[in-house]
Amino acid sequence: MTEPLIAPVGTRRVFSGVQPSGALHLGNYLGALVKFVALQHEMECLYCVVDLHAITAWQDPKTLASQTREIAAAYFAAGVDPAKAIVFAQSAVPEHAELAWIFNCVARLGWLDRMTQFKEKSGKHKERASVGLYTYPVLQAADILLYKATHVPVGEDQKQHLELTRDIAAKFNHDFDAPGFFPLTEALIEGPGARIMSLRDGTAKMSKSDPSDQSRINLTDDADTIAGKVKRAKTDPLPLPETVEGLKDRPEADNLVGVYAALSGQTKAQVLAQYAGQGFGQSFKPALADILVERLSPVSAEMRRLMADPAEIDRTLAAGAARARALAAPILAQTKRIVGFTAGQ
Ligand code: TYM
Repeated sequence: MTEPLIAPVGTRRVFSGVQPSGALHLGNYLGALVKFVALQHEMECLYCVVDLHAITAWQDPKTLASQTREIAAAYFAAGVDPAKAIVFAQSAVPEHAELAWIFNCVARLGWLDRMTQFKEKSGKHKERASVGLYTYPVLQAADILLYKATHVPVGEDQKQHLELTRDIAAKFNHDFDAPGFFPLTEALIEGPGARIMSLRDGTAKMSKSDPSDQSRINLTDDADTIAGKVKRAKTDPLPLPETVEGLKDRPEADNLVGVYAALSGQTKAQVLAQYAGQGFGQSFKPALADILVERLSPVSAEMRRLMADPAEIDRTLAAGAARARALAAPILAQTKRIVGFTAGQ
């Protein structure tokens, strides 16, 4: 029996989401999907494909629906069981957008001005970014609080958005004199896969938007592609160190050892005990490629199988949306009553 991820106290509910904005990579898998699977055995979980978030950047309408199905297929292929967890598309539950509007009136401009992800994504041309990209974290807060979720498994890059979610909950509860109405949600970030870095630059996050496909391992990469990417992954000329301290200031080495540790369920120290003193190409990189293929190829094969029947994925998502709406509707109705809308009375 593995350690539970969350101490069993009080009413607990998990919410998380992934954007259908491109192929999933190893960072999404280790930072999010692996945790989704573990948590579904511990409590009620909602896993959303956040298509409203995806359109904050341009998405081709011809491919968005199939991208949404692909993320759902990745959830299932990674081990999320739709009979246990509620899996649905965000746009199928209109309450998300409704609560987001209320939260747009709670969040302060100054709070959003501090969001580093907006700065990164909008780049030099902030004035050309969509307004949706700017209020993206407010919609994220609505996703979570629409279900009064208490725990959110995410990678480290989402820490600031989760802090904003707590700020919005606290301000709403305070301004409307509704103590404890929205919970102060906890981010579940800890874990060996919380921040997987690019294979080309150990100081940059592995990302869907990196123009170089060599920088990431996609969930759908075949065995040869994975082996090639690992072989070409940037390292330094030194051998693998004896201790974890020896990985300091060696970001590429640290990242590859971290990925191996996360996939093999070992600590970095245990991995180093096996490979210390050797060059990367000798046996570490081939072993890393093997473990990546061993873990990811069943996931991509299952994704392909599921994607062959899009109607079945749509049925599962529709059933999930009905379950999600049943949870969301009374919370939104109560929120509207608190705000003073006649529709909530
Ligand atoms: P998205 O689609 O960008 O990322 C999905 C998940 O993958 C994690 N992740 C990583 N983890 C480790 N290393 C990496 N290199 C890496 N890259 C991405 C992200 O942290 C995330 O957990 N804003 C969210 C989507 C969202 C959401 C929500 C999440 C919308 N509403 C409500 C939780 C709760 C996002 O960044 O998705």
